[in-house]
Amino acid sequence: MQFSKAFTLGFLAAAFVTATPVQNQIVLSPGEVASVHDAPASQSEPRKLKGRFLHVTDIHPDPFYLTGSDPSERCHRGKGGAGVLGAETSGCDTPFSLVNETFAWIKENLRDEIDFVIWTGDSARHDNDVNIPRSDSQIFTLNRRITQGMVDVFGKPDNLGDDDPTNDLVVPIIPTLGNNDIFPHNIMTDGPNKITREFSDIWRNFIPQDQYHVFDKGAYFWTQVVPGTNGKMGLASKGGLSVISLNTIYFFGSNAAVDGCDLKGEPGYEQMEWLKIQLQLMRDIGMKAILIGHVPPAWTSTKQSWDETCWKKYVLWSKQYRDVIVGSIYGHMNLDHFMVHDSDELKPPHDDSKRKKKKKKPKRKWTGRSAEEMVAPEMDPSEFDEENPVYNVQNAESYLNSLREAFSYLPTPIGAVGKSDEEDDPYDENQNADYSQKIGGRWGERYVLSIVGPSVVPNYFPTLRVIEYNITGLDDVNVVVGGSNAKPNDDLQTLRNNKDPSTPNPPSKTAPPGPAYSMQPFTFLGITQYYANLTRINGLKKKADDQHLELRDSTEDRTFRYELEYNTRTDKIYKLKDMTVKSYLKLAREIVDATRRGNKKQGDKDKTRDIDDSAVECGDLDVKEGCDVEEEKRKKRRKSKKHHHKLKDHIWHTFVKRAFVGTIEGDELGM
Ligand SMILES: *[C@@H]1O[C@H](CO)[C@@H](O)[C@H](O)[C@H]1NC(C)=O
Ligand SMILES: *[C@@H]1O[C@H](CO)[C@@H](O)[C@H](O)[C@H]1NC(C)=O
Ligand SMILES: *[C@@H]1O[C@H](CO)[C@@H](O)[C@H](O)[C@H]1NC(C)=O
Repeated sequence: MQFSKAFTLGFLAAAFVTATPVQNQIVLSPGEVASVHDAPASQSEPRKLKGRFLHVTDIHPDPFYLTGSDPSERCHRGKGGAGVLGAETSGCDTPFSLVNETFAWIKENLRDEIDFVIWTGDSARHDNDVNIPRSDSQIFTLNRRITQGMVDVFGKPDNLGDDDPTNDLVVPIIPTLGNNDIFPHNIMTDGPNKITREFSDIWRNFIPQDQYHVFDKGAYFWTQVVPGTNGKMGLASKGGLSVISLNTIYFFGSNAAVDGCDLKGEPGYEQMEWLKIQLQLMRDIGMKAILIGHVPPAWTSTKQSWDETCWKKYVLWSKQYRDVIVGSIYGHMNLDHFMVHDSDELKPPHDDSKRKKKKKKPKRKWTGRSAEEMVAPEMDPSEFDEENPVYNVQNAESYLNSLREAFSYLPTPIGAVGKSDEEDDPYDENQNADYSQKIGGRWGERYVLSIVGPSVVPNYFPTLRVIEYNITGLDDVNVVVGGSNAKPNDDLQTLRNNKDPSTPNPPSKTAPPGPAYSMQPFTFLGITQYYANLTRINGLKKKADDQHLELRDSTEDRTFRYELEYNTRTDKIYKLKDMTVKSYLKLAREIVDATRRGNKKQGDKDKTRDIDDSAVECGDLDVKEGCDVEEEKRKKRRKSKKHHHKLKDHIWHTFVKRAFVGTIEGDELGM
């Protein structure tokens, strides 16, 4: 606890707090902001691993954004409250001022503190204004501009201009295709096609050269981000870490041009076969992998984002390669949340009868008709439409409720005896054999976890997140960029010819649990979630007439910055000691019912006390200086009878509040 606190605060913003060097993961001291000017004199000097990576998603830059225009007109015209840096809590896209500030902030604060960048798509504006329809050239241009922004931040000037475009960066950057990065949006056939050709050029700095043939086929690929313990890359490396960039558009239920993952020849099927081969290859050389994609495999009673055949294969593959996969990270939804999938059932973790009866949409082959014709009929007004998040807060609410419902089907520990959280963890396998059995053994291997990062586009507030991962024992490993994965590709070729359409093999019986399940090198440790408070930064407030906006007091702090929203390693509410599946299973249960917390005695009927103890926090998000926990407890105890229900839902409310990046309180929604 002590350790992680010093560590995270120190990392967060060296400018604000005192940092204590811990292990090799922290290097900043007070006042010392990692800026380009302080960067190592020679860019060629080896860079030691930091044990963190950046996740950026859904930038949605909009060149037509007009400051002072009307947010209900997509900030394209009219008069209204569109701020200089974006219109928070609106359906508007991102002005370039915010894009630029975001890159500048990353350059100043994160560039030298991370090992690689995961960038999960949607780097073009939405097709949301009939007066300014999108074109494919506009989409490509916007993607080029955002790619250039990445290269400007992470570029390595001394290599620019040699004949290897993949060694131009200080850290690897792994992009994925979003459903708005293609024209018409959501619709993509198998490659090679215009999209794969164009993006293989736009992303030439990011795609390893030996992956071009794969990328050409379906816009998916993988990149090694941490070399093997033998210092080697690709097939020659022992161990190491890679990031597999999936093209989720082929899995996406809204892509009317393809038909799921079960039919041979369909791009979803081919991608799953490819994924299986890569994961098998990685298993063979002891390499671990992070899966990334744009559209997450959401699967609840109100929302099923992927084609069911793809969803099933994804969960099955994840289970069978659980010794290889470190974690799975997505964007697209704008909401900060996570999902847990049950690999035993291979069906949605809830009562099927409750599932919204979705008419199986007739799969039409893409015939090249207009975007409207293909896309419009699929719009279902009752479904949460992440393209239109703010006009759909009610639907986002129902989506979050359906997630909570899905969590409620997870097994619950029976209850425990003991006192403190540590001693008395009912999720402790030794204390709860029955629970262990239900979750697939002591590591919870029955379940698969997918993490969804919130967006840069300020539908709520703009966000960035840094994920820490375990680098114990990797002190001597340097960051390598541009290493080819597999030189002559012989082994890949062999594997490709031996395509086996069967279910992948599980880990060997003697293999230890994988990095998503038990603490080991590369296991995710925690999320540092940043947001930029555009309300503060834009400095606008409603005029007395309640219609127009004016600038607030000019003495207020309006400097642009991303600031800490929460850090899961120090957070007193989630109490996520790490990001293993088991920790998330516990959190998911607590989101359903906070009284499940460890300090409940078995058979204890005194609900008041339970709730009281479980919900005592000093302040909401942060621990206030000098907060007296005992005093807080006394206060709470006095109120607790009345606020019984509220307190019980404390963790759920926090989950909802964080889903909306602090812009909407759970209470406001009546959740
Ligand atoms: C953003 O940065 C680009 C590249 O440096 C520049 O051309 C553009 O004018 C900037 N836009 C805004 C709105 O600051
Ligand atoms: C990283 O994993 C090792 C086991 O490989 C463990 O001993 C160590 O405590 C972990 N580090 C953190 C910060 O949890
Ligand atoms: C954002 O800033 C506004 C204005 O300063 C403030 O009222 C609000 O509480 C802040 N919200 C968050 C989540 O920080």
